[in-house]
Amino acid sequence: MHWRILVIFSFIRFFSSGDTLLAPCDSQIYCTGEVLRQVQMAKLFDDDKYFVDMKLTTAPEVVVEAFANLSSGFPNKTIPSSELQKFLQTYFEEPGKEFEQWTPPDWHSKPTFLSRVSDSKYRSWAEELHSLWKSLGRKVNVGFH
Ligand SMILES: *[C@@H]1O[C@H](CO)[C@@H](O)[C@H](O)[C@H]1NC(C)=O
Ligand SMILES: *[C@@H]1O[C@H](CO)[C@@H](O)[C@H](O)[C@H]1NC(C)=O
Repeated sequence: MHWRILVIFSFIRFFSSGDTLLAPCDSQIYCTGEVLRQVQMAKLFDDDKYFVDMKLTTAPEVVVEAFANLSSGFPNKTIPSSELQKFLQTYFEEPGKEFEQWTPPDWHSKPTFLSRVSDSKYRSWAEELHSLWKSLGRKVNVGFH
């Protein structure tokens, strides 16, 4: 029954790795700091979650520095919303680009390891679980978050 444990574990790991909300929130961009504050103040998006779901196009340090550079040119370091919008277009992607639908290249509907499971109840359970891999299959783009 060792394989069952393996399947479940990789399943759980897969799930939690996709969920950034489970990570401790220490991001200088998404959790604290000027970028988030000004984006919220400017009310660029109806939903605060929108910004949080945007992915960086470059390393966080660069984004923070570029933000500091840009804001230092404005009175009170407050970036006008049109400039802020441009900044976001440069350093962030629209939400939802992070995941591409993806079927693992080695995915088979009836992998041979399942045919070795003699108990038919376990086998169909495992097949069901296995088929979820396909629908959950998403390739996380290489990027910074
Ligand atoms: C910020 O400004 C400094 C000094 O002008 C510059 O060297 C640096 O490249 C700028 N950083 C970014 C990310 O634009
Ligand atoms: C500058 O910031 C301070 C403190 O945040 C605020 O009280 C003041 O009204 C701001 N001034 C301008 C011109 O926006």
